[in-house]
Amino acid sequence: MDAAQSPQSGGIVLSGMRPTGRLHIGRWLGALRNWIRLQRERRCFFFIADWHVLTTRQEDTDDVQRNVLDMMIDFLSAGLDPEQAVIFRQSAIKEHAELHLLFSMIIPTPWLLRNPTIKEQARELGLVQSDDDTALTTVNYGLLGYPVLQAADILIYKASGVPVGIDQVPHIELTREIARRFNHLYRPVFPEPEALLTEAQKVPGTDGRKMSASYNNAVFLSDPPQVIEQKLSRMMTDPRRVRRTDPGEPFDCPAFNLHRIYCTPEEIDYVMTGCRTAGIGCLECKRIMIKHVIAELGPISERRADLEARPKKVVEILERGNERARKVAAATMEEVREAMGFG
Ligand code: TRP
Ligand code: SF4
Repeated sequence: MDAAQSPQSGGIVLSGMRPTGRLHIGRWLGALRNWIRLQRERRCFFFIADWHVLTTRQEDTDDVQRNVLDMMIDFLSAGLDPEQAVIFRQSAIKEHAELHLLFSMIIPTPWLLRNPTIKEQARELGLVQSDDDTALTTVNYGLLGYPVLQAADILIYKASGVPVGIDQVPHIELTREIARRFNHLYRPVFPEPEALLTEAQKVPGTDGRKMSASYNNAVFLSDPPQVIEQKLSRMMTDPRRVRRTDPGEPFDCPAFNLHRIYCTPEEIDYVMTGCRTAGIGCLECKRIMIKHVIAELGPISERRADLEARPKKVVEILERGNERARKVAAATMEEVREAMGFG
């Protein structure tokens, strides 16, 4: 039976990711691993949000094509399965743009100006300084409208569950408001989706700061096992442990975040005691965690080697996903045009 029609399915799940470069394990643990779990249980749509990259980077688009392909390789090698989930590229489905246009007509600007996530992003990029409700009046129209496009991405597939991190919750709220307004103005077409919050698993980078490709502290899904081992063995630890005989505190140790995710309860007990009594050295301690990380990422790196050797196949899989997505999006747009009197 099609999962979308099954009563216990809980409805359609959809999520997207901006293709900004190779995926690091922060995004694997925070999002992708969860998507892979969901694809078995629900009817899922997962996509590469390439138009969304333009909201903050318009000048240099030379690497868009490459980044889309890389993200698709990351998705497939990580275990997203085109037989189970519809995997596609946002810009291949022009209907998203049409729905975005129509939504832009019914959304009051103040709803957009107060969006804390976009404000934060604009501040990080140095586009705005202030934090009041007029901060966003100076940014590009596309960035201001970022959540409207996101609402179109979600509602065009009538998704009811959207797995995202906590920073995306304001966008899902806005999506609900747009759905409600549309349904009220015309006729009920859209469900009101909910954020499926992924349990926060914060993974710092190897230097203890936030993991980010631009800080040069990231462990990538595409790193071969030896590189992962090397990066993690040098990962920052509790600075109190200057000498091997100095005791430490696991909760002040960036590497220990990975122990908490990957190790068994017994291993964690052993590490906590060993650290606090200086019974084990940091390298020995990290090796206990590293073996689990490599065991998890090893199969991913094998699948990657296979996919990288066959880029045509990767493109074909993406195009097949695009076609499946397009059918669903086109059917919703017919309903939307009909409801609005443009049928
Ligand atoms: N805004 C999301 C992010 O930055 C990406 C995204 C775009 C998305 N469209 C979406 C996520 C629709 C969920 C649903 O991570
Ligand atoms: Fe971190 Fe382990 Fe070293 Fe303690 S012993 S500081 S937990 S790496």
